[in-house]
Amino acid sequence: MVDIRPASMDDFNTMWNIFQSVIETGDALPFGESFDRDTFHQDWFTSHPAYVATNESGVIGMYKMGANYPDLGAHVSSATFLVSPDVQGKGVGRALVCHSLERARSEGFSAMQFNYVVSTNVAAVELYKSLGFSIAGTLPKAFRHKRLGLVDAYVMFRFL
Ligand SMILES: CC(C)(COP(=O)(O)OP(=O)(O)OC[C@H]1O[C@@H](n2cnc3c(N)ncnc32)[C@H](O)[C@@H]1OP(=O)(O)O)[C@@H](O)C(=O)NCCC(=O)NCCS
Repeated sequence: MVDIRPASMDDFNTMWNIFQSVIETGDALPFGESFDRDTFHQDWFTSHPAYVATNESGVIGMYKMGANYPDLGAHVSSATFLVSPDVQGKGVGRALVCHSLERARSEGFSAMQFNYVVSTNVAAVELYKSLGFSIAGTLPKAFRHKRLGLVDAYVMFRFL
């Protein structure tokens, strides 16, 4: 049973561990060693509110969602999702994306956009497509994949 609730500082260490284990794979997110603990704190606890997915063993995933751009672009939301590698593929990501879509609607956003979905990240691309997102554009060779080298990234979008 997965529960989703706002993140608190008590969740910080687990969230940081999940973040590190995901970025180590080098196949989904552009962040590397320069994205340290302080940067993670800044990014996940001082801007858009973060939410966590929990089960009986604790925090297993997380997301943050907020305006993609300020002011004249602020009606479009954006979000970032991470699921702990040991529980990926079990529906946690879908629960997080659905939760973020509900929040985005209730907060008055008119669309959601993902700025940088690595084209080889099948789980993310298929999950987003299945929830109504389409590929709005392709950024050629925008991501330096740890194993595959330069691969495309997608901008994905849907109206709410
Ligand atoms: C992308 C991510 C958030 C998806 O979360 P998840 O819990 O692994 O995904 P789910 O189990 O909820 O899968 C939902 C759907 O995604 C697709 N999917 C998931 N894993 C897949 C895979 N390995 N191959 C193909 N499709 C897959 C399926 O369409 C699946 O639908 P289903 O429920 O009908 O099977 C998660 O894998 C993750 O954190 N990856 C690393 C970080 C990342 O890529 N974040 C997104 C950056 S844009």
